[in-house]
Amino acid sequence: RKPLIPFEEIGAEKLSDLIDSFYAKVGVHPDLIPIFPDDLTETARKQKQFQTQYLGGPNLFSQEHGHPMMKARHMPFVITPTRAEAWLSCMKEAMDEVGLEGKIREIYYNRLVLTAHHMVNRNEEGH
Ligand code: HEM
Repeated sequence: RKPLIPFEEIGAEKLSDLIDSFYAKVGVHPDLIPIFPDDLTETARKQKQFQTQYLGGPNLFSQEHGHPMMKARHMPFVITPTRAEAWLSCMKEAMDEVGLEGKIREIYYNRLVLTAHHMVNRNEEGH
């Protein structure tokens, strides 16, 4: 079988559902509430753009916002190892909810684990 770009394999609609499901969980997660805005509409819109390009689809995020520089964009927020695990747990539950399964889920999730750990910018004490 011809190998596909992850974005093509998942599809724009399922990716959009995944991100909506993810932010519904982020919005009620006690470890994440303190650093996220109350209204996650714009956050979700940007994350859909970013995940599209992260998965090999069109560069929607860069077209509107410039170079991703994700670690730098996260520096204003205190991201501890606990918050990285919380972020990943919301993503895992969202993947369950939208029925993202199999090899593609494994590849995508494992990549998010690496990226999430890379975003950690403080220890548990906030230093
Ligand atoms: C924005 C937290 C990991 C992609 C944000 C914002 C917060 C945040 C607080 C700002 C939301 C807003 O003001 O709208 C976290 C935490 C993470 C994490 C706690 C745990 C490790 C990730 C990962 C990715 C990612 C792994 C990508 C794979 C983004 C994007 C934005 C964003 C694309 C929007 C950037 C922008 O406003 O230009 N994140 N994040 N984040 N995050 Fe994360």
